[in-house]
Amino acid sequence: MHAHLTPVTTTSDSRRSADLDDACPGRPALASTSAPAAASSPAAAFSSTGRSPFSTAPAVEASSFNVVPDRRGTASLKWDFAVERGRPEGVLPLWVADMDHATAPAVTSALLWRTRHGIFGYSEPDDAYNAALTGWFSRRYGWQVEAAWNTVTPGVVPALALAVRALTAPGEAVLIEEPVYYPFREVVEDNGRTVAAVPLVRDANGVYRRDLAALESTIEATGSRLLLLCNPHNPVGRVWSRDELAALDEVAARHGVVVVSDEIHADLALPGFATTPFASLGRATAARTITCTSPSKSFNLAGLQVANILIADAHLREAFRRELATTGYSQPNVLGLTACRAAYEGGEAWLDALREHIAAARAHVEARLERIEGVEAAPCEGTYLLWLDCSGFLQTAGLTPDELDDVMLHEAGLWLDDGRIFGAGGEGFTRINVACPRATLDAALDRLEAAVAAVTARAAERAGRGRVALSA
Ligand SMILES: Cc1ncc(COP(=O)(O)O)c(C=O)c1O
Repeated sequence: MHAHLTPVTTTSDSRRSADLDDACPGRPALASTSAPAAASSPAAAFSSTGRSPFSTAPAVEASSFNVVPDRRGTASLKWDFAVERGRPEGVLPLWVADMDHATAPAVTSALLWRTRHGIFGYSEPDDAYNAALTGWFSRRYGWQVEAAWNTVTPGVVPALALAVRALTAPGEAVLIEEPVYYPFREVVEDNGRTVAAVPLVRDANGVYRRDLAALESTIEATGSRLLLLCNPHNPVGRVWSRDELAALDEVAARHGVVVVSDEIHADLALPGFATTPFASLGRATAARTITCTSPSKSFNLAGLQVANILIADAHLREAFRRELATTGYSQPNVLGLTACRAAYEGGEAWLDALREHIAAARAHVEARLERIEGVEAAPCEGTYLLWLDCSGFLQTAGLTPDELDDVMLHEAGLWLDDGRIFGAGGEGFTRINVACPRATLDAALDRLEAAVAAVTARAAERAGRGRVALSA
């Protein structure tokens, strides 16, 4: 049985109230019952003072990434549902892709500001939202997008499903590259389409590469006209280079394949790497691409349910929107819109500090793995998810890939994402989320190191006497 990681909450109340004050420079106008109608709107209050929280981003403290938050009791999928999901109580969760970091102060301030207004009626992306969105892609990627291309959805996965439904008929094949984020397969199969999976291959340095010849022969064999691309790639951590994407584009163009590019991790290319939006390769490419974006990974906003789906081509966009209309969904979540605007207007410095923190976490894991026999991290260029190859450990311990997750859960007390859920090529791997304070990461690595050593030692003792017995 493993002890709980004792959470230490160091976020001070004074910091919270400072945020609130920063967030509410227009408070008197908002609270006044006698103020004229125009002045009682948040926009009017802030334009009269010139102090919108959207334009005055609070300073970034890099050290905040090492604050250990207490997420228990917040209905957190990651921290509060182990037993409901069949995992042991007290397991340390580094599985689902959200971060144990508070979002950017700019976002918190804007949300506090919007919450104080207290009216949460139907909302739509307005000019300020659109300017934040287009400005973000222009500044961060040199990609000029038009606000008219955008359709807001409650998430990227729903958008993947909508694209599959809009662009293929039941029974038709949809291309994915495995291993890959498991909803890629699910949105195809759950909608009665067929998965045409093409394996990613590892080169001599352990770097995952696309097998274009295999992709092309699969296109020819299945007649598929739709590819779900993960750019950057979860779980293998590749930030595809412009050349790699151009080569893919060439094959897609030749076969008339539409690419649905999931770019939810785009902002999390680590220092030294740069995401190329697939559609930014050129006008012809953009005309065959649906780009799924969201601030939810990079700013930790998954619970606010906002994604921006960018489609340059009018026919593709109409097909996508028609499919969205069949669900009855219309206006987006107002707090999601507020958070997205604030992130894209005022979150840049925070994001860059976060990327440094994740790069340091990656280096720290790699250094500590030197002491953990048989576990290696695939080279990670982006995302906060490390893809750990445990095949050496399994072999030494005489275990099969099917037993890896039990070792993690019951020996190490770690809740990770087992490689098998990512499809072919995931066997013997596990995925660990390093977007957490260093203390949490070290607690996890301590558990991993101890478990690998204990299981390996038991295997050595029992050498020649069959398989290793796992403790319950
Ligand atoms: C590649 C990828 N796409 C989509 C999602 C989830 O998107 P959403 O929560 O917006 O549906 C994730 C979350 O981990 C992801 O890694």
